[in-house]
Amino acid sequence: MSAHAPGRSQGIVVVKCGGSGALDVTRLCEDVAERTAAGQKLVLVHGGSAEMERLAGQLGVRLRHLTAPDGVVTRYTDDATLDVLTLALAGRVKPGLLCALDRHKVPAVGLTGLDAGLLRARRRRSVRAVVDGRPTVVRDDRGGRIVEVNAGLLHGLLAAGVVPVVSPPALAEDSEPVNTNADRAAAAVAVALRARCLVFLTGAPGVLTDPSDPSSVLAAYRLPPVGEPAPSWVAGGMRIKLVAAREALLGGVPEVWITDAAAKRPLRVLSGGGPGSSIVLPGVPSP
Ligand SMILES: Nc1ncnc2c1ncn2[C@@H]1O[C@H](COP(=O)(O)OP(=O)(O)O)[C@@H](O)[C@H]1O
Ligand SMILES: [Mg+2]
Repeated sequence: MSAHAPGRSQGIVVVKCGGSGALDVTRLCEDVAERTAAGQKLVLVHGGSAEMERLAGQLGVRLRHLTAPDGVVTRYTDDATLDVLTLALAGRVKPGLLCALDRHKVPAVGLTGLDAGLLRARRRRSVRAVVDGRPTVVRDDRGGRIVEVNAGLLHGLLAAGVVPVVSPPALAEDSEPVNTNADRAAAAVAVALRARCLVFLTGAPGVLTDPSDPSSVLAAYRLPPVGEPAPSWVAGGMRIKLVAAREALLGGVPEVWITDAAAKRPLRVLSGGGPGSSIVLPGVPSP
């Protein structure tokens, strides 16, 4: 972790780009180019579930999921899945972003959590979950939870005028790679950098009270108190995104947004007021 002067990084914005295929890379890069030219320090964090599924199909690897007792779904990462994840994120999604940024004259550096201990995680020893419909204790999951971010590395890149492009995997205690959820990685990076804002770009225009109706988007979504479940209409990948949003807000990130990855100006939320959903933690002042 870096020891940086308080306030030094107040202006940093962390943007999580959806991995599920909704992202319009060209539009994002146009916005990133414009914002960084104006002096905005930006960090991109990406996932890559669509590319992982494509590659897993090409390689004949079956991808599976774990459903925790609270209903949050995460990826079941066995050895073959970890290979697919690393190849898809570091070999396809990240190069795609770097090339698109270069076309827009944005200097960028691609990193996984393995670079200089960027993302350090504690390995999950065993996970209680429902796998393929059966309650199971899973012991071979190669996943972990981020416990440390090398913020100094990112500050150095930002000071050099470079946009860091970050993704899983992370490094476990034994210096082996482990999967970690990209939304939660984005939250951990935003907390470590004391970012002023975390933006999740995703396949929905924000948090919807009816996932099949884009017009049901909430301008502000109030997270339920700890221990209370998310509403039933929050499903799929949105559940863990809201877990990540809570972690960012609890970690002191003052502003968290969920907005449309395919929008004409995906980073318009940075000019204030949406569109998208501002995520609010009751008891923590909203922007
Ligand atoms: N209440 C909801 N509001 C918005 N999206 C929802 C909701 N419930 C489920 N979803 C789904 O969650 C998705 C976002 O999660 P995910 O597919 O993991 O995207 P990403 O790749 O951005 O992480 C949305 O595109 C939508 O299909
Ligand atoms: Mg997701």
